[in-house]
Amino acid sequence: WVLTVTAQTPTNIAVIKYWGKRDEDLILPINDSISVTLDPDHLCTTTSVAVSPAFTHDRMWLNGKEVPLSGVRYQNCLKELRSLANDVEEEEKGIKISKKDWEKLHVHIVSYNNFPTAAGLASSAAGLACLVFSLAKLMNVKEDNSRLSAIARQGSGSACRSLYGGFVKWIMGKEENGSDSIAVQLADEKHWDDLVIIIVVVSSRQKETSSTSGMRETVETSALIQHRAKEVVPKRIIQMEEATKNRDFPAFSRLACADSNQFHAVCLDTLPPIFYMKDTSHRIISCVEKWNRFEGTPQVAYTFDAGPNAVLISHNRKTAAQLLQRLLFYFPPQSEADLNSYVIGDKSI
Ligand code: DP6
Repeated sequence: WVLTVTAQTPTNIAVIKYWGKRDEDLILPINDSISVTLDPDHLCTTTSVAVSPAFTHDRMWLNGKEVPLSGVRYQNCLKELRSLANDVEEEEKGIKISKKDWEKLHVHIVSYNNFPTAAGLASSAAGLACLVFSLAKLMNVKEDNSRLSAIARQGSGSACRSLYGGFVKWIMGKEENGSDSIAVQLADEKHWDDLVIIIVVVSSRQKETSSTSGMRETVETSALIQHRAKEVVPKRIIQMEEATKNRDFPAFSRLACADSNQFHAVCLDTLPPIFYMKDTSHRIISCVEKWNRFEGTPQVAYTFDAGPNAVLISHNRKTAAQLLQRLLFYFPPQSEADLNSYVIGDKSI
């Protein structure tokens, strides 16, 4: 027999960024962060997990290619899920798995990203969150999403925020074992549903410095990161919670843009400096800043993760359409264009 479970998890975009760990193994951050989870139709991972007595070892395929599961991050997630597994019974199929069987049984994991991996946007966040969520269902793990978020966190920090829709806060926690470093939902996906998120693919090239090594180098070499984590982010977290609760777009936009810019500033303050943004990324920022200033009140927010691609958030569909018109004018697309994403290429205009 084979027992399978399939789940789908969207990626999330941080508007107050996580950058820097206080514990590399457990993946414990040096500050809280807040993100928006995207609609499941865009940038999501679909994962099917299966268990069978015929499987001889744990295996995983990502976008059709087998990938090793030996890494410590995967192993930590699997180990913890197995320890929380429960009895599973499917009478029609004659399947009966007892709690202790999970220690011996092996799983197969098949995962797909619905967005071209080459675009450098298929974030590990959706992938690890989906892996943990689908395995938890398969193993009849009864723990709630916040407990599952602490497991996904050990796969990739930002993954813990993808266990929830809407606005999500990852609380850094104080405990050394990481038990209180979990994600909580601040507001669900319906709370502010007129926001439109446009992802502008500036470059489809894989980033040169991964988030994991980039943030390690920043913590080791930047003086600014301590000021950010201790003085700046705690205040911004309170203000961002307030802005999302009140659907206050001007405050939301100012905070998201400022935090993205400070994150890239600490990257520049790293030795050697890390340059995630490109010329085109800077031009997009200027374009949005000019527009916001011209209107007198912010219409659009921008945020950039560890790469050159822009995530633009507008406060309604009308502004989103105007924004797209501007982008099409200033940055003619090089390939397909639609309302969710388009490739503009890394060209100076
Ligand atoms: C810039 O979660 O990818 O996107 O925990 O080492 O796997 P690891 O890093 P990762 O870092 C994400 C960094 C970020 C900001 C954010 O998502 O908060």
